[in-house]
Formats: sequence, C-alpha cells, structure tokens
Amino acid sequence: MTAVLRPPRPAWTILEVGPGTGAITTAILEHLLPNDQLDIVEINGLFVERLRKRFEEDPRFRPPCSQVRLYHTAVEKFYPPYRFDCIISGLPLNNFHPERVREILGHFERLLQPNGFLIYFEYVGVRQLKKPFSSRAEKHRLYRIERITQNFLKKHGARKQLVLLNLPPAFVYALQMGKK
Ligand SMILES: C[S@@+](CC[C@H](N)C(=O)[O-])C[C@H]1O[C@@H](n2cnc3c(N)ncnc32)[C@H](O)[C@@H]1O
Repeated sequence: MTAVLRPPRPAWTILEVGPGTGAITTAILEHLLPNDQLDIVEINGLFVERLRKRFEEDPRFRPPCSQVRLYHTAVEKFYPPYRFDCIISGLPLNNFHPERVREILGHFERLLQPNGFLIYFEYVGVRQLKKPFSSRAEKHRLYRIERITQNFLKKHGARKQLVLLNLPPAFVYALQMGKK
C-alpha cells in the first residue's frame, strides 16, 4: 500500500483516507520525507481520538507535528484548497451504497493532482463470498459496486496486485491520473 512512497521522489502532499486504528498510517509515517505533508481523514470520532493519542504517545507516530494534519470528517466532505500527489485509502468500498462509492471515487479524482496516485485495497473474493448468502437486493448492490469500481479502474488503467501474505489476502489497486 505504501510502496509508491519509497524514494527517490520529490516532497509530496499525501492523503490517507479511513486510517482506522492506524496500521497503514504507521507504514506511511515510516516513508515520510522531511518536506512531505500528510493529511489524514477519518469519519469515526473514536478512531480520531485514538490516533490523536498515538501521535502524542507512540514513538512510531512522531513525525514533526507541522507535517501531519488529522481531520475528523467524511472524505466526501473534505475540500482542502490544494490537491494531493497521492491518496492511500483504507475505505471498505464493498460495504457502501453504490452511489456513495461513485461519489467517493469521483471525489478522489478531484482531490488528486493531474498526475497523482491513488492506492486502495479490497479483500480477495469479498463480493463472491458474500453473494450466495445475500438477498437479491444485496446481490444487486454488490453487482453495482463491482461495475462502478471496474469502470473506474479501467478508465485510469489501474494495476492490480495480489497480496497473499495479508490476512485475509487482498488485492491492492494502484493508478496514476492521466497515465492511461
Ligand atoms: C477498514 S477500516 C481501515 C482499517 C485500517 N487500515 C486499520 O488498519 O485499522 C476503514 C476506516 O474507514 C473509515 N471510514 C469509513 N467511511 C469513511 C469516510 N467516508 N471518510 C473517511 N473515513 C471513513 C472507518 O471509520 C474506518 O476507520
């Protein structure tokens, strides 16, 4: 998820979406360059508080304060006056309403620089595993999400990488705006 941050690269503005308890945040912080700016956007107040505490107390969460900003908001309501070189998202898109998925992916496009990167993941087979036990409405929701995400990934020529060592295994999707 954070391989794109490895140097050599110039200083970037980076957005992490949906950090939860901060597992991916820890990896992002390891790769942060001195002039990077990291914005973190989390909708759940409990996770925001937990992350604030980690920034105060956890030695792995000690970048210079001026480099990191933590926002308690939904990403689709986040309109900073600048764009990002890279967005790393932990959002569980398969849990959302299809129109929300469409809104969030469209918002990612607006938040990114013309050549910015988007990285996100989904667990392998999550839709296929859910389908046999789902109602018709749920199957239809999953089908629509698949169509929306597949069209989006195709539009941007995304790369898909299988990470078998993750538990559960996951696909990581990586795309660069304007590179298709
Ligand atoms: C699957 S968890 C991420 C797990 C995380 N990588 C970790 O290691 O804990 C998804 C996170 O996205 C947050 N989230 C869900 N919808 C969001 C939204 N619209 N904007 C920002 N954060 C959101 C949830 O509160 C949750 O913390």
